[in-house]
Amino acid sequence: MSYPLTRNEHYDFTGEAYGAKLYPNLHPYPATMIPQLGIDILKELNITQGRMLDPYCGSGSSFIAGLEVGLDDFTGYDINPLALLICQARLTYLDMEKLESLVQKLERRIERLRASSDSLGGIEVEKFNNFDYWFSPHAGQELQWIKNTIVRMTKSSKKSEEFHEESHKESHEESEALRRFLFLPLSVTMRQCSYTRDKEFKLYRMSEDKLENFSPPVFSMFTRALRACFLTYKACYAQKIKGIQLTTNLGAYNNSSHNKNNSGYDVILTSPPYGDSRTTVAYGQFSLFANAWLLEQSQARAIDNLSLGGKRSQNKDCVAALNSSALGEVVASIANEDEARAAEVAAFYRDLKESMARWMKALKVGGKAVVVVGNRTVKGFVLPTDQFVAECMEQQNLCHEVSYQRKISRKRMPSRNSPRNLAGETAPTMMSEFIVVGSKRR
Ligand SMILES: C[S@@+](CC[C@H](N)C(=O)[O-])C[C@H]1O[C@@H](n2cnc3c(N)ncnc32)[C@H](O)[C@@H]1O
Repeated sequence: MSYPLTRNEHYDFTGEAYGAKLYPNLHPYPATMIPQLGIDILKELNITQGRMLDPYCGSGSSFIAGLEVGLDDFTGYDINPLALLICQARLTYLDMEKLESLVQKLERRIERLRASSDSLGGIEVEKFNNFDYWFSPHAGQELQWIKNTIVRMTKSSKKSEEFHEESHKESHEESEALRRFLFLPLSVTMRQCSYTRDKEFKLYRMSEDKLENFSPPVFSMFTRALRACFLTYKACYAQKIKGIQLTTNLGAYNNSSHNKNNSGYDVILTSPPYGDSRTTVAYGQFSLFANAWLLEQSQARAIDNLSLGGKRSQNKDCVAALNSSALGEVVASIANEDEARAAEVAAFYRDLKESMARWMKALKVGGKAVVVVGNRTVKGFVLPTDQFVAECMEQQNLCHEVSYQRKISRKRMPSRNSPRNLAGETAPTMMSEFIVVGSKRR
């Protein structure tokens, strides 16, 4: 297969922050795609209307890009409930008067509580396994009070349920949307006031001496995060998302998703994980507190295992079964050094290939698929994931059109990772990214 790869400086966005002024983040999420990239590639491909799918939608940056060029129908899949919470909160239209009044009410209740001498001692804290390892009793009680208050404030009324079924449905959906929005700053606060070390995706507890003097002001952290979220949503999102259609699905894109949506998508814009969660980005660990406590997901600890390559394989057959001209030699070289590691790498690409085969079918004839990937290094060997994606496109009746290489300047990724998960052993993570473009053949 000839492989057109172009170094394209236009897509570097050197020095630009995530979303720049257009769409700032409402909640941090690892390895987000900068919306500027999506916006410019959609413009370059002349995509201005139609339905967009993102099978690994994360916090929804591809939809933000679609929105900016005029798309209004978005479908996302992700295995991580926190990712969908962020995506939904960013892209669900809320009545600004109602939201503002709710935010103010919540602020006032917190003010009143702080001014009173009421103790939170009696509050029953919902605890996931190991909660006390990560939160002080004081932080746990204050977080729980905020959560209970948000839940109470966003309960849809029973009365309208009895008398007006239709309007109840609407008001129930609206209440749910308001609750999801208020959960964002609470999730931010949870992480800030936990015993986790700053700026790490994986969960590491702070040192004992730091922990002794750590007494986070939970209420003021929350009200600050709440205001910031509200103001950003009001200034950057509210006006632009009215009337759009967003469908999010918890779980991986599968064959039944395909049957449900057989009218097909006009464009797929996505960035899959770069490798398994254990040795690259641990989305599940990053999201554990929100998933386990805020969203009460029993699967919270299983997310990294559900991710591509999450089921570790020591089976050497995995390497042979990969059958990829893009990756074959590199994986064989890794196997010469470490067969077990090569099998794990092959298991990731096996999962990625199976997953891509499912959602590539959902593209309409003539539709475009844009896949943003990074080429990670294992045992000193660079894995050409961009070429692998192009190869899979060709196998799935897509024509690979072009791949652009861009420099990553400010992606929220650890700048060094631990490739073998050994304490103290790190290697630089990738500093460039690839935008792989294909179109569906007849
Ligand atoms: C690189 S991130 C996507 C980031 C997204 N573009 C953004 O800007 O927020 C990859 C996402 O894939 C999700 N993921 C991993 N395995 C998946 C699978 N099998 N199906 C669906 N989503 C998956 C992860 O939870 C993560 O949110």
